[in-house]
Amino acid sequence: MMMRRSLIAGNWKMHTTDTEARELALAVAGNCLGVAERDVLLAPPFTVLGSVSECLKDTGILVGVQNVCWQEKGAFTGEISPTMVKAAGGVAAIVGHSERRQIFLETDELINRRVVGGLSFGLMMILCIGETREQRESGVTFAVLEKQLRGGLAGVQAKDMASIVIAYEPVWAIGTGLTASKEQAQEAHAFIRRLIAEMYEKDLAGQLRILYGGSVKPTNVDELMAQPDIDGALVGGAALDAEAFGRIVAYK
Ligand code: 13P
Repeated sequence: MMMRRSLIAGNWKMHTTDTEARELALAVAGNCLGVAERDVLLAPPFTVLGSVSECLKDTGILVGVQNVCWQEKGAFTGEISPTMVKAAGGVAAIVGHSERRQIFLETDELINRRVVGGLSFGLMMILCIGETREQRESGVTFAVLEKQLRGGLAGVQAKDMASIVIAYEPVWAIGTGLTASKEQAQEAHAFIRRLIAEMYEKDLAGQLRILYGGSVKPTNVDELMAQPDIDGALVGGAALDAEAFGRIVAYK
């Protein structure tokens, strides 16, 4: 089996003022010492990106954002450009999070523009996909994942796929305390990898990192990460607790 370097990413969502962010970033850094074999990434709000990057410099912990525009500059009120992200120390962007899709009505087409734009500026792009509870119950999970994956990656060339990370986040498991079972998660991840092999090629699919997100906690991380197609986690609530996040990063 192809070895993929694990990535544990913390999505801070809309939490932390500057003081809180600095404190949390330093505490996370203190709790992540000695896990050099894994990548760790924090995605704080835009307003504290620079502060968090500064606190984490020399720690090896990566910093990213929770969304990004496809243009470098211009009349895009409310948006942040890839160049701004990089200037503030960011190397990655999460896009297509279910909260962006559901609350802010972002479509696959819009998300795709973000993916393609972010890649063109050299950002690592973490594309989130996932089905709602209704979709799972009506048996269309894989159709939904396929649509979001094909839509989100439209026009992305094989050579750029090394900068893509997919995050499978079943919407019903986000912030609910409900986690997909290890079998459900593995099944979805294996489906995603097969589809990428079909869209691109097998070797490339073998190198792709696919993260699981949705109520990842210290108590369930070990069994999830033991699955062959789960290469890391995208953590929400538990990422705001430095001790819990440190334990997740150090999963067995
Ligand atoms: P929770 O870990 O709080 O369920 O959030 C997951 C998530 O949305 C990460 O992007």
